[in-house]
Amino acid sequence: MDKSLRKAVIAGNWKMNKTPDEAKAIINEMKPLVADADCDVVLCVPYIDIFAAQEAAAGSNIKIGAENCHWAESGAFTGEVSAPMLKAIGVEYVIIGHSERRQYFGETDETVNKRVRAALDSGLTVILCVGELLDERKKGVTMEVVRSQTKIALQGVSNEELDKIIIAYEPVWAIGTGETATAEQANEVNHAIREVLGEIYCPKCASRVTIQYGGSMNAKNAAELLAQEDVDGGLIGGASLKAEDFSVIVKAASI
Ligand code: PGA
Repeated sequence: MDKSLRKAVIAGNWKMNKTPDEAKAIINEMKPLVADADCDVVLCVPYIDIFAAQEAAAGSNIKIGAENCHWAESGAFTGEVSAPMLKAIGVEYVIIGHSERRQYFGETDETVNKRVRAALDSGLTVILCVGELLDERKKGVTMEVVRSQTKIALQGVSNEELDKIIIAYEPVWAIGTGETATAEQANEVNHAIREVLGEIYCPKCASRVTIQYGGSMNAKNAAELLAQEDVDGGLIGGASLKAEDFSVIVKAASI
């Protein structure tokens, strides 16, 4: 499989951090640092920051995404935001199925699938998160978990729509913990995800899908992780809140 078939994507996931003014300030700091990137650069930000982030990123190579979307187009879902709403304000990317959504907000493989469908129907590019819990890794069922999450999330997604899917492998035990998967562990699971995609679609289709690693990726370990054959980018939490650190990761993906 040829890594050069795929464009690397470095995406920040700000989670519940930064006010609109803070968003503008950090994006203004980031812009010159990532201007020469030879990879796609995305920042997924809280809904409240989207307008400010778009304004600050205008004319640069930084694209703005959201951190989730609901599956319905509209309706009585207090506190939720729909995919058509995101599309209407020029959002291009949306994270779906992040482990924090699954862990703290009751999202299941089935609701993740519905959100993926809704995002695609609105023309958004999905960053679909999958990954095992520590307990599951200890039990040796990582591959089963990740295979099943991937399969269910992509139910009803056509071959053509695969162009709008990025998968982020994020072992839950590595998120925000400072503990990173080794480059080999990341590559092994990313490779397994590509195999599942090959089974659902076709091996050639799978070879074109960007599969990121996420979980304490930082300025120090990014180069080694990104050098792996099946690691095509990163979903970056903590390190995307610092312009300098984020730009080092972007540079590591641009080699
Ligand atoms: P982290 O978060 O880089 O802070 O571990 C990654 C993520 O949750 O997407």
